[in-house]
Amino acid sequence: MIGKIRTPRLGIFLNVGIGIVFIIAAVITVIIVNYSMRQQAYIEAQAKARIILDRNLATHTYFSEIMKPSIFAWSEPFRSKEYFDHTWMSSTYALREIEKYFKSLNPSGYSFKDAAIDARSPENEADEYERAFLEKLAMDKKLESDITVRNIDGKPYLVVLRKGEVMEASCLRCHSTPQNAPKGLTDHYGPERSFNRKTGDVASAVSLRIPLSEAYASANIFSLKLSAILIGILICIFTIQYWFYRRYLLEPLNVMRDKAKEIATHEDHLGEQIPQPFGRELTELTASFNEMAIKLRHERDQLEELVDQRTEELRKEKDFAESLIQTAQTIVLVLDTTGYIVSINPYMEEISGYRLEEVQGKDWFSTFLPECDRNSIRELFLKAVGNFQTQGNVNQIVTKDGRKIDIEWSDKTLKDEKGNVVGLLSIGQDITERKRTEIALQESHARLERNLKGAIDVISETIEAKGPYAPGHHRQVSALTSAIARKLGLTDFQVQGIELASAVYDIGLMTIPIEFLQDSELLDGVKLTLYQGYPKTGHDALKKIEFPWPIAEITLQHRECYDGSGFPQGIRGEEILIEARILAVANAIEDLTTHKSFRNAFPVNEVLEKISAHSGSKYDPAVVAACLGLFKEKGYKMEG
Ligand code: HEC
Repeated sequence: MIGKIRTPRLGIFLNVGIGIVFIIAAVITVIIVNYSMRQQAYIEAQAKARIILDRNLATHTYFSEIMKPSIFAWSEPFRSKEYFDHTWMSSTYALREIEKYFKSLNPSGYSFKDAAIDARSPENEADEYERAFLEKLAMDKKLESDITVRNIDGKPYLVVLRKGEVMEASCLRCHSTPQNAPKGLTDHYGPERSFNRKTGDVASAVSLRIPLSEAYASANIFSLKLSAILIGILICIFTIQYWFYRRYLLEPLNVMRDKAKEIATHEDHLGEQIPQPFGRELTELTASFNEMAIKLRHERDQLEELVDQRTEELRKEKDFAESLIQTAQTIVLVLDTTGYIVSINPYMEEISGYRLEEVQGKDWFSTFLPECDRNSIRELFLKAVGNFQTQGNVNQIVTKDGRKIDIEWSDKTLKDEKGNVVGLLSIGQDITERKRTEIALQESHARLERNLKGAIDVISETIEAKGPYAPGHHRQVSALTSAIARKLGLTDFQVQGIELASAVYDIGLMTIPIEFLQDSELLDGVKLTLYQGYPKTGHDALKKIEFPWPIAEITLQHRECYDGSGFPQGIRGEEILIEARILAVANAIEDLTTHKSFRNAFPVNEVLEKISAHSGSKYDPAVVAACLGLFKEKGYKMEG
């Protein structure tokens, strides 16, 4: 869950953060206070040192300047030269003794000493540190004092060293040689120490120690107390701010978090409201949260409605599609990409005699296809699965009882949502019956055509027998029209039509007395009118037969001229059927190359010249050109 991710709780984070900042501040405060207090103690000790030293100096000065000279003067008469008494003759001794009284009165650890190298009294002998200062003094005439904090026996002291007395001439009586010194002195102190001094020598250093441990200790105690107070304050602030955080920030946030969790786990909570907390920011946040929850709820409801609606629609569509597949009188076949049967519909079951359970998962090709087709169709199938749509493939399937059925297939590849081919959907129509009907129809057509042609042959022969033509006349015309038509690029069907028309086009002539036709080629008056009616007569007779070709029209138009000067309608150019235009030329050629009772046959060359003379007037120039081409280039010959 999201909550388990290692993010600290906000409350803990804030408290710890504030705590750490506070502790750091407190520690810094305590350290500064402690340091300042020690510094203060040091300054105070220095002031004290000054007082003590000056006091001692005053005492010393009194001894040297006033008391000693006075007693010396007073005792001069009754004092022997060898007499010596350190109690009043040595101010050093006197001060040391005063110091002892002082120490007994004040045990705080102050100590004063007149330190000298090779001191007469061992109590005045300089320690290592004092000796170093004295040596420095001997070198450096300007050096006066030295203040440091030293740790002595584990305790801190302010140590002040100050330049002491300087040897004068009067001092040398007791500090030059033992012989010079009073006997009493050498008797008491011996003849070794504090001799051989010279005038100008620094004789001693005043050394004062003031203990700091007490001041330091009190600074530490104060720091400790301060720390305790600060910790107390810290705890108070902590508690108060924690309470405030909890009350005004964390609790409202927790409420919001819990609600969000509820919504996340149970959608039904969507839209539920949380109470308004204190504080503008949280109030606004809560308001936004509540608003969002309501909107989401609303949207979810709408979405659900929409999903239900769509589901219902889809279900209906699916039901419809399924019922289509179930009831359609069409084969529905689904194969996987390897050609195994996934499903067949009830119609296929009915047609094939197999139940779906029997063939499901079986190889389509070896189950349903005749052995000879299997490989070629498997290849086709692999192409189809390679993503294209095929339509109109026809192949046979073998039913359970061994019958072969012709099926026309439409294939479509099935794809998954990524576009990968997962199978093939084939829709099949049983066309066995249709094929059979087609064949029967073709046969009947052929028969009809044969019959028609037979009938036409009969008519043609009848015309030839009755009319003024030599036998074979129609065959000649037919051969020529057919040749011209082919040269002009007419279709096979048109050629067929023109051939048949050529056999009957002059059927109308049968109604005209044969004498008209045999007597002369020049007709006039009633005869001419009668003659010119023959295409119409032929047309009216032939139109009663329903030919698939415009035989009657060709017959009607075959005497029309290209320039409109023909008969019976006087139509021109393209208005005349191309078949009629061809027939006009062929008829003329055949007529002129045939012997008549009133004239001889013209030679072919002459005939062709006559024809080309009328190209564009009587005859269609294209037809004439094709015809001349036939004779001249192809060597076409009229049959004898
Ligand atoms: C009459 C003899 C006498 C005279 C004069 C004298 N001193 Fe001393 N001095 C002593 C004696 C004795 C002591 C040792 C006292 C003791 O510490 O018990 C002493 C000790 C000292 C000490 C202490 C250090 C050490 O060497 O023991 C100093 C410093 C000193 N004298 C300086 C002087 C100076 C400066 C003068 C001249 C102004 C002077 N003295 C004159 C007898 C004398």
